Amino acid sequence: MPVDDFAQPLIQAIDCGVAFAPGSAVLEGVDLAIASGEFVSIVGPSGCGKSTFLRIVAGLVAPSSGEVLVSGSRPEKARRGAAPMAFVFQDPTLLPWRTVADNLQLPGELQSSLPRLAPPDVLALLERVGLKPDDARKRPRELSGGMRMRVSLARAMATNPKLLLLDEPFAALDDVLRQQLNEELARLWQADGWTGLFVTHNVSEAVFLSQRVLVMSSRPGRFVADVRVPFAYPRSFALRGDPEFARVTAEIGHVLREVLR
Ligand SMILES: Nc1ncnc2c1ncn2[C@@H]1O[C@H](COP(=O)(O)OP(=O)(O)OP(=O)(O)O)[C@@H](O)[C@H]1O
Ligand SMILES: [Mg+2]
Repeated sequence: MPVDDFAQPLIQAIDCGVAFAPGSAVLEGVDLAIASGEFVSIVGPSGCGKSTFLRIVAGLVAPSSGEVLVSGSRPEKARRGAAPMAFVFQDPTLLPWRTVADNLQLPGELQSSLPRLAPPDVLALLERVGLKPDDARKRPRELSGGMRMRVSLARAMATNPKLLLLDEPFAALDDVLRQQLNEELARLWQADGWTGLFVTHNVSEAVFLSQRVLVMSSRPGRFVADVRVPFAYPRSFALRGDPEFARVTAEIGHVLREVLR
């Protein structure tokens, strides 16, 4: 048995359930283990509980039954210690009155454990997400949707996360830009080694980015498939034309159709 099978998973869900109203479970019997450094995507029908599961991992929602552990602890404890987390949503959630540079300072203002970014740190972060030094002085309204999402990613990177939770971050972007950001996100992950948990409705985006794609059923929501994606990183645009890419994407699409029935 490989050594990794004995290592503690970074995220562990054990028979986890959530009901917002009595007798109406959103999640039920959710079991999952994600190793440190993995990139895992979740796909599933609208309303099945994907965002709820991410909120549980972030410690923002408590399970009604079972448990979710991050680094062996309750998520809210892990978040403040062993496993700092960052969240990226479809809405970049930038403060409109602040410049890009000042938006990047926000996590440090909210968490005393993070140092204030010096100007060279701001420039380095902008460069990492494909923005220019001049963009530091701009306000969010002066940026395109794609640029705002890049700032949102840079703000997440500024916290040096061990775990990055991404909830449909690229859903509002056009296809070409979305594919470009997929490549850039995979590159950031490969360079930094954080663990990625990514929610999307787009199966080819999930396959492109991930080492594993989980399919969630609805009512109750639980993971019904865990598909390994065999491609090496870095992954480039050409991968999308690979017959094996089409095969894995179709396999997941097939499970999704079964779930939607
Ligand atoms: N705080 C809450 N109180 C009550 N019900 C909630 C709450 N949060 C989520 N729900 C319900 O839980 C279910 C799952 O919601 P969730 O947002 O997790 O789904 P999702 O899979 O992320 O959907 P989508 O793909 O549309 O984003 C939905 O029926 C939703 O209405
Ligand atoms: Mg959601």
